[in-house]
Amino acid sequence: MNLKDYIATIPDYPKEGILFRDITPLMADGPAFAYATQQIVDYAREVGAELVVGPEARGFIIGCPVAYAMEIGFAPVRKPKKLPREVIEVEYEKEYGTDILTMHRDAISPGQKVIIIDDLLATGGTIEATIKLVEKLGGEVVGCAFLIELEELEGAKMLKGYPYKSLMVY
Ligand code: PRP
Ligand code: ADE
Repeated sequence: MNLKDYIATIPDYPKEGILFRDITPLMADGPAFAYATQQIVDYAREVGAELVVGPEARGFIIGCPVAYAMEIGFAPVRKPKKLPREVIEVEYEKEYGTDILTMHRDAISPGQKVIIIDDLLATGGTIEATIKLVEKLGGEVVGCAFLIELEELEGAKMLKGYPYKSLMVY
């Protein structure tokens, strides 16, 4: 199956100069979404993941079905003031602005093997911040997985030393 057939490309969204890669056609197609999810489940099993961590919002869309299929837990990474209990936070830069990401302080057990799952790797700011959050909480990042990697933005540089898998590279 060629997953790229299910990605829509929108120029100048959300602002000029950004080529937006839209995963909603892939999500809308049952067999394509199941196939993509299964590819990531296979990878998550290979790296021995015990917990899925996913950044909001699109990381939830891919991360949750993977956690469900593996019968392991899912811990959300959220923007400020969304999580109701005690949080830790990390500031980061992204392709179009800066932001803060948070996780609940008790989201990860010490030494737990974590796979971080998101829809897309662009500059790598989100994944770098998420790795920091996981490690601050005592988790071990055993892998990262993305549907899409935007190669020219060199986000993979932020992943030095951490194994990762991208299903589609642009
Ligand atoms: C997008 C995308 C990734 C991140 C990738 O999320 O879903 O999480 O940007 O960019 P980076 O590698 O440059 O950090 P966004 O922050 O737009 O939030 P959303 O999922 O809530 O739309
Ligand atoms: N998140 C960050 N950059 C993006 C892009 N170019 N397309 C879709 N999502 C993104």
